[in-house]
Amino acid sequence: MEFYDVIRQRRSVRDYDPDKQVEPQVLQRILEAGRIAPSATNAQPWTFVVITSPEGLSRVRAAYGSSWFQDAPAVLTVTGRRSDAWTRPADGYNALETDLTIAMDHMILAAAAEGVSSCWIAAYQPEAIRSALELGEDEEVFAITPLGYPRKDVQLPPRRGRKSLEEITKYL
Ligand SMILES: Cc1cc2nc3c(=O)[nH]c(=O)nc-3n(C[C@H](O)[C@H](O)[C@H](O)COP(=O)(O)O)c2cc1C
Repeated sequence: MEFYDVIRQRRSVRDYDPDKQVEPQVLQRILEAGRIAPSATNAQPWTFVVITSPEGLSRVRAAYGSSWFQDAPAVLTVTGRRSDAWTRPADGYNALETDLTIAMDHMILAAAAEGVSSCWIAAYQPEAIRSALELGEDEEVFAITPLGYPRKDVQLPPRRGRKSLEEITKYL
């Protein structure tokens, strides 16, 4: 799919067919899109966590109670350590959240290009997600997404609008 079509047609999907798995080769291509994402100093301070096992899914589902999320056949997230990411000497800004978010966005857009649905989720229970992902003390996570296909014949809600370019752009 053409790049601009991908970013125009991507949307948050909150209705998944629990019986339609993401094919392994499709998942591989989605992960590859994350692998080649840019990161500050090319540090690549990330681990891609793919949850498809019944035990893993049941733990991650417990961390985000929305009923639609319980049906997603796969959940993807990106985790990492602050000490592995670049820190700007001038003021101590650390790029971990930026790097992890870029990798996640690459994968979400790759999923859209593959016809696989997703939805950024940050409103999970932080401690429950940490325990579901078996994170160490120094590991962080900023978002998770379901991956899957919508139920057949499901009527997706209308696309959400956006502010106009005039409202959000400033030229200096
Ligand atoms: C950082 C971030 C966190 C989000 N967290 C949630 C969430 O916890 N639950 C949810 O249903 N959607 C969540 N969303 C999805 C947004 O609601 C959605 O992207 C926005 O309404 C625009 O709709 P669209 O993705 O269909 O274009 C999140 C999106 C972002 C970028």
